[in-house]
Amino acid sequence: MNIRLRLALGMACVTVLVVVMVAAVQFLALRSFLSLSEHERLETLVPALEASLDAQLRRPAPAVLSLAALPRNVDIRVLRGAQVLVQSSEFPAVPPRTPPGYQPIAGHNVLIAPIIVGGQVATAQLASDLLGVLNPLKAYLRALAITAPAAALLVALLGFVFAGRLLRPLSHLESAAAWLGQGGDLRTILPGAGRSDELGRLASTLQATFAQLAELREREAEFTQAAAHDLRSPLAALKTRLQGALVGARTPQELREDMREALSDVERMRRLTEDLLLLAGGEREVQRLPLNLAHLTGEVVDRLRERTPDVRLDFETWGDTRVLGDELLLMHLVENIIENGFRHGQGADMQVCVGGEPGLVRLEVRDSGPGVPPEALERLTEPFYRADPARAGEGNGLGLAIARRAALAHSAALRFVNRQPSGLQVSVDFARQPVAQPELQAQELQMKKSPG
Ligand SMILES: Nc1ncnc2c1ncn2[C@@H]1O[C@H](COP(=O)(O)OP(=O)(O)OP(=O)(O)O)[C@@H](O)[C@H]1O
Ligand SMILES: [Mg+2]
Repeated sequence: MNIRLRLALGMACVTVLVVVMVAAVQFLALRSFLSLSEHERLETLVPALEASLDAQLRRPAPAVLSLAALPRNVDIRVLRGAQVLVQSSEFPAVPPRTPPGYQPIAGHNVLIAPIIVGGQVATAQLASDLLGVLNPLKAYLRALAITAPAAALLVALLGFVFAGRLLRPLSHLESAAAWLGQGGDLRTILPGAGRSDELGRLASTLQATFAQLAELREREAEFTQAAAHDLRSPLAALKTRLQGALVGARTPQELREDMREALSDVERMRRLTEDLLLLAGGEREVQRLPLNLAHLTGEVVDRLRERTPDVRLDFETWGDTRVLGDELLLMHLVENIIENGFRHGQGADMQVCVGGEPGLVRLEVRDSGPGVPPEALERLTEPFYRADPARAGEGNGLGLAIARRAALAHSAALRFVNRQPSGLQVSVDFARQPVAQPELQAQELQMKKSPG
């Protein structure tokens, strides 16, 4: 059953419920009103009955008492003790000694009241048929039995039409979504987007989500293209080398040289594949273990100093530099940033510091190389971005994208600033988290095992 039909039926059911509830209240009110007005009518007859009988008894020669002066639709009986003074022809079976008051007896509303006739106390019993009250109530119920279903039907019809109008934007939205699913432009403005009602807000939310999807799709395509492009060059070089080795007559010396170069092409592709895997981040879960950022950075610095002894690198640490983190990711982060100083800093001096500040641990890498153009600062962490492709050399343009991912995984802030007069400063701020006691002990143990 669709929403439109459900809305219409729901409205009809609610209408029936409301009508029945209101009718029940009205029925009870009407019944007590009719009973009360019958009570009042009988009460107004009592003085007239009293006057009429008293007048008849005071006549010099009282004949048989008559009730002719009173309304015919009321049955009357007057008793003095157990003696009946006068009685209508069809008086109902009301017991003679019923106490005074107003109550339903034997299918009648009966009023019993004391009166004075001929100077003596008597009891007047006035009875009117209950049908006088029940008939209007029955008529009311009959009318209700016709009007309630008619009202429900009318409301269902009107509700169906109204719900159709209300849900029309939803069906437009559905068609638009179906069109997008079949390859339509994800940035198309959706019908209803921008309106302030619920459906408008839904359309705006979907619109924003689709735009994000479009952006994601474009970035994915760019990423794949760049990855394919960077893999193609070493593959082509490898192919040419292997073909050359197969075709021409080669001395063992030349063959070894070919193999060495082929190996370096394979190594380049291996690094690119590993970087891509690391960037995709799907391989392993990010760990959060206690480790000392200064120790980790010191290891990287030692390794890189060995590899590039010509560059002067000052390394400084102070304060408490313990963080909770993933050693592999942090190693990549630190290595990529420092290695960039060596690779892109044109051999200029470098400083690396790791400091424990209140509430955070900061890693700062400064070089005095050429820095990057100001407009490139924002884009350095994009995959495959190189500020100066001519000088990019062997790099894949993935190092800082990996560093950004590692920083994000540690909720650390990664910033790039050009220095004066030249050079680049990269800083990473790790918010200090409270380290649990067992973790602290494990960390201290680890530090004692591997000092420095
Ligand atoms: N210290 C620096 N000085 C000048 N330019 C830099 C520096 N660090 C990064 N860059 C610029 O940012 C670009 C992106 O750096 P990134 O580390 O992502 O890639 P890469 O070093 O070229 O390659 P790899 O993937 O091997 O790290 C570099 O190509 C370079 O143009
Ligand atoms: Mg790099």
